[in-house]
Amino acid sequence: MKTCRKTAIYPGFFDPITNGHLSIVSRGLDIFDRVIIAILHNPKKEPLFTVEERMLMIQETLKGNPNVEVDTFDGLLVDYVVQKKAHIILRGLRALSDFEYEFQMALMNRKLNRNVQSVFLMTDYKWFYISSTIIKEAASFGGDVSGLVPEIVNHKLKEKFAKTKNT
Ligand code: PNS
Repeated sequence: MKTCRKTAIYPGFFDPITNGHLSIVSRGLDIFDRVIIAILHNPKKEPLFTVEERMLMIQETLKGNPNVEVDTFDGLLVDYVVQKKAHIILRGLRALSDFEYEFQMALMNRKLNRNVQSVFLMTDYKWFYISSTIIKEAASFGGDVSGLVPEIVNHKLKEKFAKTKNT
């Protein structure tokens, strides 16, 4: 049941997107009309996948869903939210360990713009232990991460780490 007709911005690095992220998108769509997945383009950080690769993997995974948009941003998140004429930031929570960082970020965002609200949804319990970082760590040593990430991500991870092994 829809409780409000709104757009939510779901920001992150998504390096790469996992089933945990997808669970938040799907739950977000139960509440909001549209979810914009906003990939932070941060030149200071060295990601495994380029922004373009991350965007393509997300688009491929969620293709055919008219209520999901994939976009990139840089600079302040709250400025991007305003630029998209939205005022909701959607974030996922797994364990208690996420809380401190999320709480800090939500309060800073509120200080920067009082009209922007942060909304938190719980990831499905099946994905509690996964993060992009732990997925990359396992995949880099040849671990099987199928079932934890979309098929295209699994495939690209294998490709990426096969390449680094051969160089
Ligand atoms: O995937 P992550 O690491 O959980 O995403 C963090 C992200 C991208 C949401 C956060 O770093 C962010 O919003 N960065 C943009 C810069 C900004 O607005 N900073 C001030 C608020 S903390």
